[in-house]
Amino acid sequence: MIKDIITLGIESSCDETSVAVVKNGREVLSNIINSQIKIHEKFGGVVPEIASRNHIEAISGVTEEAIKEAGITYKDIDNIACTYGPGLVGALLVGVSYAKGLSYALNKPLTGTNHIEGHIAANYITHKDLKPPFLCLIISGGHTHLVYIQDYNKFDIIGKTRDDAIGEAFDKIARVIGLGYPGGPKVDRLAREGEPNIDLPKTHIEGLDFSFSGVKTAIINLHHKNPDVNKANLCASFEKYVTDTLLENTLKAAKQLKVKKIALAGGVSANSYIREEFIKLENKGYKIYYPEPILCTDNAAMIASAGYYRYMSGTISNLELNAIPNLKI
Ligand code: KG4
Ligand code: ZN
Repeated sequence: MIKDIITLGIESSCDETSVAVVKNGREVLSNIINSQIKIHEKFGGVVPEIASRNHIEAISGVTEEAIKEAGITYKDIDNIACTYGPGLVGALLVGVSYAKGLSYALNKPLTGTNHIEGHIAANYITHKDLKPPFLCLIISGGHTHLVYIQDYNKFDIIGKTRDDAIGEAFDKIARVIGLGYPGGPKVDRLAREGEPNIDLPKTHIEGLDFSFSGVKTAIINLHHKNPDVNKANLCASFEKYVTDTLLENTLKAAKQLKVKKIALAGGVSANSYIREEFIKLENKGYKIYYPEPILCTDNAAMIASAGYYRYMSGTISNLELNAIPNLKI
């Protein structure tokens, strides 16, 4: 019988302190997420210094809870995976230092894991049958990447944003039109009540890259020039615009690479309109994968899954592992 591999995942790259226990890279035994949204809400966005301090306060308790809920003891852990980038340097350092301490104390291997690879791996947890190769569109607060996953640890970035990440555009628009932070879910909700009847200037970019700053500015200007413009229609028009762009580039890439499996990942992939539109590609012969909503936004289960595949390939970190805020995949 093959021995089960238990991975402890630690995520602290932004404003969620999360620790998870995952069996064999795909089965979640626990996934504790301590969100700081309430703390940062009053500042209208994440304040890095405050995030770091709250990670320090939360991390031991969240780890204890993850171990307890999983019904394991520390000695059952085979591998400790932590996010070491990309993200806020002070926030990342908390998770990395804690993971290094545990690895040393328990004498267990440490696997530094890329946050974006974690978002991709969230799909392995929700879809037990999903295997590379496939195409993944990662849309989050910090990233907009179109990635070809050749194998579990082999990635080609084939498109990315030239300016704002898509989630940043959602959050900025929400703030300007008075919906508050975090904006994505609020824009999503309001857009359901509106019509996408506002024409927005199209930014033309060659190849498979994205650009969202033009449409973001156009929406903000429309609101400033005429504060009575219907906000629900603004949100619906913005969502339609970005979804059309995402679909266009993803389909172009799928055709070029001749792939039929397309996965979405990251906080913005929880958006209901984006999901509805992508699922329609199944009528064209594509298979569409999404993580379940709790695994779309930042969480440690996805980091444990990505860390498991690093561990299985023998990519082990040492105690010199450091936080790398602009880490690339
Ligand atoms: O993946 P994530 O938790 O953090 C990063 O790694 O960036 O993504 C957070 C982003 C935020 O910009 C948030 O507004 C957005 O995901 N988001 C959404 C929705 N839920 C979260 N955007 C659009 N529609 C949603 N339903
Ligand atoms: Zn993220």
